Amino acid sequence: MLDGYYCWGSGRQTVTLLSMRVLLLLLVSFLPCSGLTAPPEFESYADRARVNFALYCAGCHTMSGKGAAGIVPDLGEYLGQFAQNAEPRPFLVQVPGASSSPLSDAELAEVTNWILYTMNADQLNKDFQPYTAAEVTEYRKTPLLDVIPVKDALVEKIVGSY
Ligand code: HEC
Repeated sequence: MLDGYYCWGSGRQTVTLLSMRVLLLLLVSFLPCSGLTAPPEFESYADRARVNFALYCAGCHTMSGKGAAGIVPDLGEYLGQFAQNAEPRPFLVQVPGASSSPLSDAELAEVTNWILYTMNADQLNKDFQPYTAAEVTEYRKTPLLDVIPVKDALVEKIVGSY
């Protein structure tokens, strides 16, 4: 399944440092949460988004989004935090699995919102803005190649901002 796809982290140290930061982020992610119910317009595309996730993402991420420890990250861990902060927000659609998928920008926006509403709802505040197709078009112009250092730096910034 993952053959030919590079794995995250180049060594034990990277993974350990990353895990510590993720743990910190998890801790702070409990502070400002109010939880969110998806808006009515989400219902109009939720089924399509779920099917696209199943076809283009679940092969690696699994349908629950939990992935595989140490290989494919859990999509429900803290992406809500990323989506609600301007700097890390583009990251969600710039990672290779998302940016280079055959999904259109509108479909990728829907799948990303589906991930957020179904797997990260407890992290979303009431003023959360769902991703738009135009926004995804913009972010996709600069896809990420080396994910881990970028993610690591973003996590550190968010943790530092609390
Ligand atoms: C071939 C396997 C594979 C497929 C298919 C795939 N991903 Fe991923 N995804 C990964 C891996 C591995 C990572 C960890 C970062 C990296 O190395 O790219 C990841 C990371 C992510 C992240 C960042 C999560 C985090 O905590 O850092 C998001 C968001 C994401 N993928 C969304 C998607 C979406 C949406 C799709 C479908 C359109 C998709 N992925 C398809 C393997 C995959």
